[in-house]
Amino acid sequence: MSSHTLDELLAAGVSGRHVLVRSDLNVPLDGSTVTDDGRVRASLPVLTKLAEAGAKVIVMAHLGRPKGTVDPKYSIAPAAARLGELADFDVTVASDVVGPSAREAAASLADGAVLVLENVRYDARETSKVDAEREQFARELAELTGENGAYVNDAFGAVHRKHASVYDIAALLPSYQGDLVATEVNVLKTLTEAPKRPYVVVLGGSKVSDKLAVIDNLLGKADHLLIGGGMAFTFLKAQGYAIGGSLLEEDQIDTCTEYLSRAKELGCDIIVPSDVVVAEKFGADAAHEVLAADKIEEASFGSSGLGLDIGPKTAELFASYITSANTVFWNGPMGVFEIPAFAEGTRTVARALADSEAFSVVGGGDSAAAVRSLGFADDDFGHISTGGGASLEYLEGKTLPGVAALER
Ligand code: 3PG
Repeated sequence: MSSHTLDELLAAGVSGRHVLVRSDLNVPLDGSTVTDDGRVRASLPVLTKLAEAGAKVIVMAHLGRPKGTVDPKYSIAPAAARLGELADFDVTVASDVVGPSAREAAASLADGAVLVLENVRYDARETSKVDAEREQFARELAELTGENGAYVNDAFGAVHRKHASVYDIAALLPSYQGDLVATEVNVLKTLTEAPKRPYVVVLGGSKVSDKLAVIDNLLGKADHLLIGGGMAFTFLKAQGYAIGGSLLEEDQIDTCTEYLSRAKELGCDIIVPSDVVVAEKFGADAAHEVLAADKIEEASFGSSGLGLDIGPKTAELFASYITSANTVFWNGPMGVFEIPAFAEGTRTVARALADSEAFSVVGGGDSAAAVRSLGFADDDFGHISTGGGASLEYLEGKTLPGVAALER
């Protein structure tokens, strides 16, 4: 089964029609300043195509997890303002999601203009586990389009969520796959169906539990799995090392042990750090030392140090695997890259990826923000995915509700 494309919608004609677009505008903020506008930029092409074709565009998007309550901290306004700065079309923002402000603004929307609804997660029905609640919310969203509306899902970062604006609404309006979703899915297909070998996967980030399913699925598919970030310490613990006060998910140790032994049987290397940067405490001014992974508790400042980055030997080893790979997928920073003393591991991996000729995918909003904040440009990499959770779930082999809904 396949989905209808945006080009098909444009060919059918959108001038004067209301088109509801689900975008992913979930950007990091510092107060009301957008600190990484990658997702806003990634959403622009589809919105521009529709606006230029004369559609009355209504954007549905979420920001953070306000859990069904109206909390100004999670207002979509800063993301919408950034969209307005980057766009060639007019952008207005409704002060509610499906209330009077949204209804009036939608009804009076000019051809070629874009209305952004307030954070769809201000309404608890968006994420409800009760189908009827989500369906009712989707109906109210669809009603904003009046007669002859259409729906486009371009929010790749949210396609793994069975939410009203991602899933249920596709049953109510003629539905189309946005170009961003199409591109992202194609890239991930290349990774899962025919990766050129050697295929190296680099995983980091703090929680090993977030990555277990993808590790499980990649054993036997990837040639080398390089593990860094906070999650590496549960693997080190599983290998019998003392890890001081470093991050540990005790309940995942057995699973890590099982993966390490299954990897051996399947001929897939799981490579964990051989050295780490250990800090006396969490903070930019913390004393820190590079130590071998089996000497973490031997730091000069005591035995309770925290491992906050992979060490230089490990970073060089990871870089050499990346350099000799033909396909690389990377999700999750190697350390606390926001603090310069613990950013070198992430920087070395990013540099190796930027210099490599491999087909490379950087997966996830956080990983993308990390490489940008370290000074790398998007086009240093083969593809920067806008979806962290979504790309991991695809690689886990799961069905993505937002993609499947368009195929009905
Ligand atoms: C993301 O940040 O990965 C997407 O915007 C989805 O957000 P969520 O994890 O809160 O559903």
